[in-house]
Amino acid sequence: MAGKTLVAFAALLLAATCVLAEKPDTEEDLEATNEKNLLEAKIADACREKKCKLGHECTLDEDGHRICVCASKCHELKPLKVCSTQNETFPSECDLDRERCLCHRGQEGCQNKEHKKAHLDYYGECKDIPECTEGQMRSFSRRMSEWLFQVMKELSARKDLTEFAEKLAEEAKSQPKGKHSVIPVIWKFCDLDKSKDKSVNRRELLPLTSMLKPLEHCLGPFLDTCAGDDRMITLGEWGTCLGLEKDDVNKFEDLCDKMEANLEEEEEEDDEE
Ligand SMILES: *[C@@H]1O[C@H](CO)[C@@H](O)[C@H](O)[C@H]1NC(C)=O
Repeated sequence: MAGKTLVAFAALLLAATCVLAEKPDTEEDLEATNEKNLLEAKIADACREKKCKLGHECTLDEDGHRICVCASKCHELKPLKVCSTQNETFPSECDLDRERCLCHRGQEGCQNKEHKKAHLDYYGECKDIPECTEGQMRSFSRRMSEWLFQVMKELSARKDLTEFAEKLAEEAKSQPKGKHSVIPVIWKFCDLDKSKDKSVNRRELLPLTSMLKPLEHCLGPFLDTCAGDDRMITLGEWGTCLGLEKDDVNKFEDLCDKMEANLEEEEEEDDEE
């Protein structure tokens, strides 16, 4: 009985010692906490206007300059799983970009050096995408050009097109059957070519592929075929791939330039308002 009491007493003593040891109330600790809070406030203030890419965050370097570093954490409210180009699922696009950032810079937290080359492939968990047969590939080309016409029609009905694109949609609708997807096909190319260099690369295709790849198993192989070895798709390649005649592509060759010029005009008008 006495032995048990002694053990209990020893335990109590030990607990008390631990509590004493953890007590953070020394002056130095308080000062350190205050300094940390001050620094955090300073960073938050300086970084308010600074935009960093996904998976990155702003902080201050030793000279007090704002810099983007790999995010310490991702704060997605509704994380949407993504599949990487290395066929690995990540909790969110931010987590993938953060991991690439850490691995690229050789920082602690990087889970696999190979991830420095991992990019977004498509939204959703990685899944088994069935092979696309030759027959499916041929019909896919037709289906996709028809789909682009439908998309343009739908956007027009929803009044979601720019003024100039609206005119294009009208023109497309007035084309004879079998030709009505010529304009939508070229319009989509111009829309995807964000760098305006008359070719579309993997990154520029992402808005299309990241959504559709898991649904349309022929899209990936189809675009690879269009691109050829250099992995860039020119307007000519895009047109041929989607079943347009050379003459039709030539006829609308300057469409991208016209779209660009009109976009700038419309933006200027908006600014004047
Ligand atoms: C990618 O990952 C999924 C899910 O783990 C798997 O079913 C599929 O076979 C993989 N695809 C390839 C090409 O390895």
